[in-house]
Amino acid sequence: MKFSALLAAVTLATGAYALPANETVEKRATCSPVTLSGNPFTSRKLFANSHYGDYVKTAAAAITDSTLSSQALKVADVGSFLWLDTISALDTLDGHLKSVPCDQVIGIVVYDLPGRDCAAKASNGELAVGQLSTYKSSYIDALVKIIKANTGTAIVALVEPDSLPNLVTNADLSTCKASKTGYEDGVAYALKSLNLPNVVQYVDAGHGGWLGWNDNLKPGAEELAKVYKAAGSPKNVRGFATNVAGWNAWSKTPGEFENAPDGQWNKAQDEKRYVSLFSAALKTAGFPNYAIVDTGRNAVQGLRDEWGDWCNVNGAGFGVRPTSSTGDSQTDAFVWVKPGGESDGTSDSTANRYDSFCGKADAYKPAPEAGTWNQAYFEMLLKNAIPQF
Ligand code: BGC
Repeated sequence: MKFSALLAAVTLATGAYALPANETVEKRATCSPVTLSGNPFTSRKLFANSHYGDYVKTAAAAITDSTLSSQALKVADVGSFLWLDTISALDTLDGHLKSVPCDQVIGIVVYDLPGRDCAAKASNGELAVGQLSTYKSSYIDALVKIIKANTGTAIVALVEPDSLPNLVTNADLSTCKASKTGYEDGVAYALKSLNLPNVVQYVDAGHGGWLGWNDNLKPGAEELAKVYKAAGSPKNVRGFATNVAGWNAWSKTPGEFENAPDGQWNKAQDEKRYVSLFSAALKTAGFPNYAIVDTGRNAVQGLRDEWGDWCNVNGAGFGVRPTSSTGDSQTDAFVWVKPGGESDGTSDSTANRYDSFCGKADAYKPAPEAGTWNQAYFEMLLKNAIPQF
């Protein structure tokens, strides 16, 4: 079902609307079983899933400026990751997997750990601390079952954004302390279970302004390696993902925060330098070290008051489109992970999941709940895109 124009107009006026009830998933012919090896993006384009495509098409239809509207439509053709942020998000996965052309690869984000988003509030998830067995059986096992029914689809799985990085730098928070065992066991279970021929896995490693600090590189790499080894060192884990839903430039000298007073303590002043430093630390720790980098929203720099500001940064623009031409032998691909236009968190200070970062001076307001559509923000990303659409 598509939005009616009236419904779209009404809901767009409020700034947010819900997921289209039925996504336009078009199935393709059967593909032969896939066995991936090496960089999965070298010969396969990142699939443009209809979850994002439908949002974008509805958004384009709501734009009255015809030039901007046709530019918006082009965003629907850009490949991006599909976030499996709840158990019920798995309901449409089979259809998505069956719609991926045989020569493309779909990106999925595995994102439903118990006690999710332990150092923030905006993306707290459906599972509470302690619900590890539900995570394993109702989420990971269910996901694996759907994947096993689609051996002809090439899949890149990005495993649990922010989780292990939070255990490194936010270990003193009571919420992260409580989440620790569940995160480590949960991620290990995911890695072990998703070790399938048609899947390649990357584990989230934050960004240069997070694990890139001199003092965080080693503990960060060791945390990832520990969980990977606990999973039995699954052979389809290819490395790590950086800048997921982030804002850092790929390459910029000086880096945005390089001349800040504490800049001397962090050599990872852009994601290129972060990939280089962190991949070296991972090698020492015994973890596979190829990277993918989210360039979905990093076109414009100099917007954040502080490096750690993560919520709906105002003035942002769509960045480099997904490609395996990164010019860096350690970096497999630039990808769009965060679907640009979906919110990072609500700016409504009375909401349950309100996080004060979403009320900061450099955050766009008003903003709806994390994951829901923000039409005005989408239009801003489009206008500020580099390269332009
Ligand atoms: C939200 C998820 C959403 C994802 C992609 C996260 O911040 O918590 O619900 O799927 O962003 O927009």
